Amino acid sequence: MVNDVTPATAEGPGQSRTAAEHGFAENPYNPHAWIIGDPRIGPGTWIGAFTVIDGSGGLTIGAGCDISCGAQIYTHSSMRRCVSGHRYGNVERRATKIGDRVFIGANAVVNMGVSIGDEAVVAAGAVVTRNVPARAVVAGIPAKPIGRVVIAADEVHIEPLTSGRSA
Ligand SMILES: CC(C)(COP(=O)(O)OP(=O)(O)OC[C@H]1O[C@@H](n2cnc3c(N)ncnc32)[C@H](O)[C@@H]1OP(=O)(O)O)[C@@H](O)C(=O)NCCC(=O)NCCS
Repeated sequence: MVNDVTPATAEGPGQSRTAAEHGFAENPYNPHAWIIGDPRIGPGTWIGAFTVIDGSGGLTIGAGCDISCGAQIYTHSSMRRCVSGHRYGNVERRATKIGDRVFIGANAVVNMGVSIGDEAVVAAGAVVTRNVPARAVVAGIPAKPIGRVVIAADEVHIEPLTSGRSA
């Protein structure tokens, strides 16, 4: 009978933890975003579905940013603890800072400890491992500068870093 079907859970058969029990707390930005800890998020910032916003190590996101769907912004890493079989006992945490009017593309990852300047652009799918200056456009894994944001009175465009191609 359809009504007897137990809802799927991440724990597998026989277990029934709810999303709330997993710590998937409600947030004012997006019901499908996982916002952890206590990030400071400025007014007018939009956060898409399936994002991970990790405020556990100190996260500031400025005003007017777009955090596209699937993007993940971290302030912690369990890498050393994991590969050492927990002999290294700590989860590392480093504060991450994102400026105002920053665009983070879909499925981008921002590693812990990174600062991204105002009006910068992180391309879809990039992994940001180093600081990004204001108005830089970065792409790839690891993310590297590919252009500059140019904002004039009546137009906005991306100026490529390499010659021979107009934006
Ligand atoms: C980075 C980005 C903003 C560049 O915009 P653009 O300048 O209009 O992009 P173009 O298509 O002209 O590409 C410029 C160059 O960057 C490369 N590029 C574009 N997007 C890229 C990406 N995500 N990763 C790596 N390289 C990328 C292009 O291949 C091109 O290289 P080439 O000059 O050697 O051919 C855009 O491609 C992007 O990633 N947007 C995010 C999309 C997204 O996440 N949307 C979510 C909903 S809003």
